[in-house]
Amino acid sequence: QRNTLVAPSLLASNFLELGKEVDMLNRSEADWLHLDVMDGRFVPNISYGIPVIAQIKKAAKKTCDVHLMIEEPEKYAEAFKQAGADILTVHYEACVHLHRNIQQIKGLGMKAGVALNPHTPVHLLENVINDIDVVLVMSVNPGFGGQHFIPQTLKKLRELREMIRASNAYALIEVDGGITLDNAADIINAGANVLVAGSTVFSSADPAATIKALRES
Ligand code: DX5
Ligand code: ZN
Repeated sequence: QRNTLVAPSLLASNFLELGKEVDMLNRSEADWLHLDVMDGRFVPNISYGIPVIAQIKKAAKKTCDVHLMIEEPEKYAEAFKQAGADILTVHYEACVHLHRNIQQIKGLGMKAGVALNPHTPVHLLENVINDIDVVLVMSVNPGFGGQHFIPQTLKKLRELREMIRASNAYALIEVDGGITLDNAADIINAGANVLVAGSTVFSSADPAATIKALRES
């Protein structure tokens, strides 16, 4: 049994105090910093991008986990590498040539992740599962923080865990959206290795304590 990792999503942080937020996360038990990039096309929202991530990287002492919710991610992979991404995750739904995109990310020296929207079945990753470092299972529709966890995700997590086991793959299962202290244990029991949490962490009175509690769920 691997330890559960926690990846706070900075989307819910106070952007006016970004340096302080990163310091707080550096001192916390957070494992990764989850950085959500939205282009207003793949998802109906626009967040932050390359220059902001480059600044965060200068202050961060943790793995930078960049979640691209953008079309044509292959055009920007190199720029995100330069900005400091350690893990680069692209959406299955945004990639016509997913296998090539995964090789590109790994060739640039990053870990490669593939994200699945709530409607996308896990079995569609069968032919790339042995090539990827992370599968990011979206448990809300991407684009916004603070939404409710979609319960059907638990079934997908069990299927994915079985696929990874049967294929002898090494991919970590990361779950993103609507994770709270109340549902974290069920999500871990269904197969999650990494929990992303935005509003649960940043709207709590003591974010570091909430990160610790998520880890121990
Ligand atoms: C949603 C993003 C998430 C988001 C999660 O499109 O991918 O990472 O920040 O926020 P919460 O934890 O508030 O659902
Ligand atoms: Zn995300």
